[in-house]
Amino acid sequence: MALELARENGAGIVGLGAYTAVASRAGLYLRNEGIAITTGNSYTVVAAAEAVLTALERLESPLSQVTAGIVGAAGSIGRGLTLLLSENVARLILVGNPEHPEKTRARLREVAAQMVRHLVGQLAKGRKFERGTLGATVAALDGLPNPEAEEEAFLRLADELVREGVVLLSSDIDAVLPGADVVITATNSLGKLVTPDNLKLGAVVCDLSRPPNVSREVADRRPDVLVIDGGVIEVPGRPDLGWDFGFEEGLAYACMAETMMLALEHHYQHTSIGSGVTVESILWMRNLAQKHGFTIADLRSFDRPLTERQWTRTLRARREARCAG
Ligand SMILES: NC(=O)c1ccc[n+]([C@@H]2O[C@H](COP(=O)([O-])OP(=O)(O)OC[C@H]3O[C@@H](n4cnc5c(N)ncnc54)[C@H](OP(=O)(O)O)[C@@H]3O)[C@@H](O)[C@H]2O)c1
Repeated sequence: MALELARENGAGIVGLGAYTAVASRAGLYLRNEGIAITTGNSYTVVAAAEAVLTALERLESPLSQVTAGIVGAAGSIGRGLTLLLSENVARLILVGNPEHPEKTRARLREVAAQMVRHLVGQLAKGRKFERGTLGATVAALDGLPNPEAEEEAFLRLADELVREGVVLLSSDIDAVLPGADVVITATNSLGKLVTPDNLKLGAVVCDLSRPPNVSREVADRRPDVLVIDGGVIEVPGRPDLGWDFGFEEGLAYACMAETMMLALEHHYQHTSIGSGVTVESILWMRNLAQKHGFTIADLRSFDRPLTERQWTRTLRARREARCAG
């Protein structure tokens, strides 16, 4: 219906919106409808990574020493975040759906292999990674294959990283999440998966999932934890968009911003659909954002802008909890 309306009105590209994107298997069920679509997931990945980086800078916590947990790592956004963050973090905990643990483990292993292929590709281009990061760990592995090698070679290397303990694959969130300094959620689950009881001291949590996966109780019971909403973007000039989604004027979700940027570029082709959130599409969206002046909005928490008071409270609680520990 919405696609028909868009076609009749001469739209060049349609943004699916978070719920439709999930329901249409990241756009795959709608790809033959005769109109270009995007899930908006590539720019969502960019926005989440930038929001986390901004928070870590403020907390004076270097990304290269961080263990990041990605909840929903086998999904479209989770996979993109895994590839992007693997360049800069020390360890990754990839968490998948507990409803079918065996299938989940196989998928997460495949994501880890894709991540190794990405890092090997970067190394082959002469990229140097900071000491202590996953990128540097992969660089130090023996007998790295050609980036175009068969998947089996990358699966073997992924298994080696798991054995070394720098990559963890799990569908048991409560068991593994307390090991993560940074947590990013990107699942299609309606559950409150992240709770006051499964977070590390001083963790930074970025909740991308809609509906959210982070329990509000975290705000009350864990003042040492910083929860930020990922994927909120300031549209250049902050125009009245005709809707607000609960935001102040001129703010939009990253997935909507991706549709706007593709329209500005007259790029009327499917983008970010299926498992098509590639590092190339992610970096392209980052460049388009710079070109057109889209930026992440001031950090928000549980749908409200983070105030100075909240920052001060978080910093104090982190200090006190560390001293007590
Ligand atoms: N903030 C924004 O701008 C923005 C933009 C776009 C999307 N989103 C939101 O981001 C989320 C992810 O979107 P997506 O397109 O990446 O979805 P997706 O491709 O469907 O991926 C979701 C993943 O979560 C997994 N999962 C389900 N329950 C889980 C659980 N309890 N623990 C761990 N993993 C679990 C799913 O596993 P199975 O496949 O086995 O079910 C799937 O691999 C959605 O909530 C979406 O609404 C936000």
